[in-house]
Amino acid sequence: MHISFVASEGVPFSKTGGLADVVGALPRSLAALGHQVSVYLPRYRQTKLTEPATVVRSITVPFDDQYRFASVVSGGSQGGVHFYFVEYPQYFDRDALYGTPAGDYPDNAERFALFSRAVLEASKILGVPQVFHCHDWQSALVPVLLRTVYAEDPAFCDVGTVFTIHNMGYQGLFPPDTLPLLMLPWDLFTMSKMEFFGQVNFLKGALTYSDFITTVSRKYSQEIQTAEYGFGLEGVLRDRAATVTGILNGVDYDEWSPQTDKFTAGKFSPQDLSAKAKCKQDLLAAFGVKNADPKLPVIGIVSRFAAQKGFDLISQIADRLAREEMIIVALGAGDKTYEEMFVRLNKQFPNKIAVKVAYDNAIAHKIEAGSDMFLMPSRYEPCGLNQIYSLKYGTVPIVRATGGLDDTIEPWDARNGKGTGFKFTEYNGESLLLTVKQALQAYRDQTSWQVLMRNGMNKDFSWNASAREYGKIYERVRQLRGAPAAPAPEKALVGVSS
Ligand code: ADP
Ligand code: GLC
Repeated sequence: MHISFVASEGVPFSKTGGLADVVGALPRSLAALGHQVSVYLPRYRQTKLTEPATVVRSITVPFDDQYRFASVVSGGSQGGVHFYFVEYPQYFDRDALYGTPAGDYPDNAERFALFSRAVLEASKILGVPQVFHCHDWQSALVPVLLRTVYAEDPAFCDVGTVFTIHNMGYQGLFPPDTLPLLMLPWDLFTMSKMEFFGQVNFLKGALTYSDFITTVSRKYSQEIQTAEYGFGLEGVLRDRAATVTGILNGVDYDEWSPQTDKFTAGKFSPQDLSAKAKCKQDLLAAFGVKNADPKLPVIGIVSRFAAQKGFDLISQIADRLAREEMIIVALGAGDKTYEEMFVRLNKQFPNKIAVKVAYDNAIAHKIEAGSDMFLMPSRYEPCGLNQIYSLKYGTVPIVRATGGLDDTIEPWDARNGKGTGFKFTEYNGESLLLTVKQALQAYRDQTSWQVLMRNGMNKDFSWNASAREYGKIYERVRQLRGAPAAPAPEKALVGVSS
């Protein structure tokens, strides 16, 4: 089947979080299963292309009182997947993807509306897929456009849409006059469509108009249908419960494996763990921690610094945590509040809490390899990838039992030697502290700790199984839309070479 991914970030071209990892890896797994897959991304300043070739010179995108003209650049094929980039420097040639620490770019509605419209128009030249698979609010207008202003377009008459929610916390909320600005019909501004407490909600549009909705773990697919996790859209999701499903993200073990990792000081495996000690030393050196007792457990953190990630719990218990026999190394960037909080903790407990406020992929790998434990106390977590990477590196996750964290981590039971990590449920500092203490206690028995490490290292979260699940959903959507099993001849790729 021909599937086009539409997303705002994807490895190796652009990344702020796990969405990019998914968009970088899932298409390749689908291609390996025999699907024809193309991926559309914006061309940001940080997008590095080796041999960019303009494949569509000009696409007219209507806005309020003017036309804008975007183009599409081919980034060639990787692993059987074709990458296309919507180019519009005025919108995408900027320092960051979505905004600065001070806040989102004020024209994000226009930026991602232009992107979505350009993708639809480009596909008419580059090949209309059977299914558009869109991700998060930035591509949410694709299903909306297809069922409204493009409803009469014969090119799209049997095209289906799948929408994946990676995070309900980001919805794309804009003032009502965004609709006429983007040349979208006013009748979308009703409660049953895109209106949301007086604003236009892009995500709600996608939840209304997509043929099928997925999210990135089974548990999260249930949580988002409740008031606690639905961010006000739980009712919309409950109405569509029959077409909502959770498919766990996989991970790309070509990138994240202690046996082949190009960023770490030593290679190790479940059979031979010895080089992990070298990775730990190297990690502590990278964080400027000197003369640390090698027996002290190191707890790693790699994260966007956002309210979602539960760092307010660390702040609640920091002084008692710092009395424990351990060292925390944290890498992250994002909200000023949490950046400042970690810097403050580092000043207060310089020998206990080391921090790098940065976005740094190499350090992220060093933390996975060199830490003994990995901390993710998230308030909510749609899937979470770092805890899954940690398992592979024998770095034992300590997580809050929510979303994908709950689905991927099994509690350690020293009596039967089963389990892969430590979990707590109540969202408060006391529960977190208690669970960290349990982990530190377990660490003291190195023989059973190695059993625990190996349990995690032997787990397999590769993409294959999840890619097959997506394949089944695409097939359901194709049938729903009554599209032919193979692409119709007029929809075959035309006039493009890369
Ligand atoms: P989310 O998408 O909510 O940020 P995930 O756990 O799904 O959470 O994915 C986060 C991804 O982003 C991982 O690949 C992680 O290594 C990476 N990442 C997050 N923060 C940083 C950082 N400060 N430096 C380098 N990589 C980071
Ligand atoms: C989001 C979520 C994270 C998930 C990622 C990829 O950013 O916060 O939990 O792993 O998307 O699906």
